[in-house]
Amino acid sequence: MLKNKKIVLGITGGIAAYKSAELIRVFVKAGAEVKVIMTRNATEFITPLTLRTLSRNPVATDMFDAAQPYDMAHIALADWADAFVIAPATGNLIGKIASGIADDLLTTTLMAENKPTLICPAMNDKMLANPFLRENLRKLAGTGYRVMQSDVGELACNVTGAGRLPEIPEILDELEALLTVQDFTGHKVLVTAGPTQEPLDPVRYITNYSSGKMGYALAKAAHQRGAKVTLISGPTKIAPPKVETVIFVRTAQEMHRAVMDACSKASVIIKAAAVADYRPRVTAAEKIKKDRGLAGVELVCNPDIIAAIGAKKKRGILVGFAMETQDLLDNARRKMTRKNMDMIVANNLCDKGAGFEADTNIITILDRFGGCAALEKMTKQEAAHRILDHILSLKMKKGPAGKK
Ligand code: PMT
Repeated sequence: MLKNKKIVLGITGGIAAYKSAELIRVFVKAGAEVKVIMTRNATEFITPLTLRTLSRNPVATDMFDAAQPYDMAHIALADWADAFVIAPATGNLIGKIASGIADDLLTTTLMAENKPTLICPAMNDKMLANPFLRENLRKLAGTGYRVMQSDVGELACNVTGAGRLPEIPEILDELEALLTVQDFTGHKVLVTAGPTQEPLDPVRYITNYSSGKMGYALAKAAHQRGAKVTLISGPTKIAPPKVETVIFVRTAQEMHRAVMDACSKASVIIKAAAVADYRPRVTAAEKIKKDRGLAGVELVCNPDIIAAIGAKKKRGILVGFAMETQDLLDNARRKMTRKNMDMIVANNLCDKGAGFEADTNIITILDRFGGCAALEKMTKQEAAHRILDHILSLKMKKGPAGKK
């Protein structure tokens, strides 16, 4: 999403300035071109040479630097950028923007630009709690700046509290969201992800290989496009994306309850979870001894969650996944019709780079109007956006009733 985007990174004078080196590296790796403006104080914490080397561009520090070409002036940078990121943003810088002060290259450029701008505050916890600073942050948020919340944790001044620079991947996510068309604004999207675990006894369970990556990619993409997202996740080893609500469950029955509670509020439901079809009828209270064996374990069917939603669905869009190893499209189409889905995303576990655990997927999207889109191998994040694109096109076909 950052491919070929032009980003101006503004760095101010706080200890977190040292993290800007990693931020530039991540932006460049994501395909962006980065130009840096540092305040004079920022140069006390990290050298322009480091940032010039990482960004592969000259670093601007001075309004009146005769060595800089004319087109490096504040107006040229304001025009050049697709987006601005200020990280770390000190209380001083935030106060200056909020008060309309432009007394150095960074603040002058910020006054001259009208591009999407992300402010990442980082400072001591008492400074962050200061009422003037709070008011200034509210002012910025109310005038179109995207203001991130500082993280809570250990601060450089040896106390624990709010004021840490948000983690680099979170800044990257916010920047991507800032540059994304907000075409899901007003939608409430419910996503399920990951496996379920069905306990046999206190030490064993039945599960599958789902990592949660596909479902998490969908939740992240919907959030980036402006939706309010509820993510219901089985147990995974990866961190969930930052969305409005995350509910962790373990078993299919728990997932069933959580989904049925949440689904009436959703305008789009996407069931990417790999729900275990069976569970042991009884969970043994004590560890089943090896010599007793598992032959006596009786399995019963779990609730079919998506079929239950399909049966009571009146409005909104219901999207399922089909995980197959043979007759992919026929099986997927049958599932879509039988469970009253609007759309199904088919993936074949036998295709290399598709299905469980990988960062990529190979999907075919089928819809109830006969639409069929077979996509090449792509990252799960890209696939998530293509699925959301298809959902929007389906909403156009269904008309306003498809929107809650
Ligand atoms: O998590 P990853 O490692 O990234 O892997 C991604 C994935 C392979 C898990 C994902 O792409 C996928 O295919 N998810 C659906 C897996 C699945 O359960 O497929 P199915 O064909 O068995 O089920 C069809 C649909 O019914 C699915 O939407 C499923 O969520 C739903 N279902 C299934 C059983 C059940 N008891 N209740 C359900 O709601």
